[in-house]
Amino acid sequence: MAKHFGTAVLVKREGSMAIATLNRPDKLNAINRDMLEELTAFLDVIQTDKTLRSIIITAAGDKAFCVGADLKERQAMTEKDILQRFDQVHKLYTRLENLRVPVIAAVNGAALGGGLELALACDFRILANNAMVGLPEVSLAIIPGNGGTQRLARIVGMSKALEWVLFAKRLTAKEALDAGLVTQTADAAECLASAKAMAEALQEMGPLALGAAKKAIRQGIELPMQKALELETECYKSLISSKDRKEGIVAFLNKKKPNYTGE
Ligand code: COA
Repeated sequence: MAKHFGTAVLVKREGSMAIATLNRPDKLNAINRDMLEELTAFLDVIQTDKTLRSIIITAAGDKAFCVGADLKERQAMTEKDILQRFDQVHKLYTRLENLRVPVIAAVNGAALGGGLELALACDFRILANNAMVGLPEVSLAIIPGNGGTQRLARIVGMSKALEWVLFAKRLTAKEALDAGLVTQTADAAECLASAKAMAEALQEMGPLALGAAKKAIRQGIELPMQKALELETECYKSLISSKDRKEGIVAFLNKKKPNYTGE
């Protein structure tokens, strides 16, 4: 994988971890066409990479993770272009959410609008202590339409989602942590290191098991209980004949660290 995947998103591989850095710090990492295309290209590459175990998404600069759509670019777009862009972002975030590997957002600064929606599509969020987050779209006479209303309500519950979205609330890191919106907080300069530590902890687990657990939880929650239990069973059974399952037992019984290969 190229170290500099593009200019709007920098991509780096560290062992079995891929790190994508949103890279328009002077525009507070607002999502413009280039950034969207590069993020899409990033997913195209990693989606087929069987050696990958985790992904971190973070951003350049010390002010913002991402402030959502580039509103200057948006102003010059036709309604048709806006709808097309909307579909692209929607697909991108859904693909991100459905990746086999765990995805961690190292939210090192403000995450607003589509920036928070990006983080909501990740499995875990680490938020800088001094950062604010929110979905302020209604103050711009639109709604959070790239999964924001749905993912936020599923993560923090309907009551908070209604309050935060309808009042265009900007939350402190403490409020976000208390509500369960983020997994943990850290000093801004430590966000990436905390995300890497989290990724390393995940790398100790069976990779197929992580994918199966993620699928069972993410897809199961959308189903009626009986169907959800059937999905869980299917995910469980998919691991029975894996080499890693046997390796896990042998390593445990021999008091050794398992060497999981994802087979
Ligand atoms: N799109 C494009 N450019 C943006 C932007 C956006 N969403 N948000 C900020 N910027 C640009 C500003 O225009 C400014 O550029 P300039 O220096 O060329 O004028 C630069 O980023 C810095 O922003 P600024 O507002 O001056 O910084 P600040 O520290 O005073 O405030 C925020 C930071 C995040 C509080 C403020 O920028 C903000 O509220 N942004 C809007 C976020 C938003 O509503 N997003 C939802 C979109 S649906």
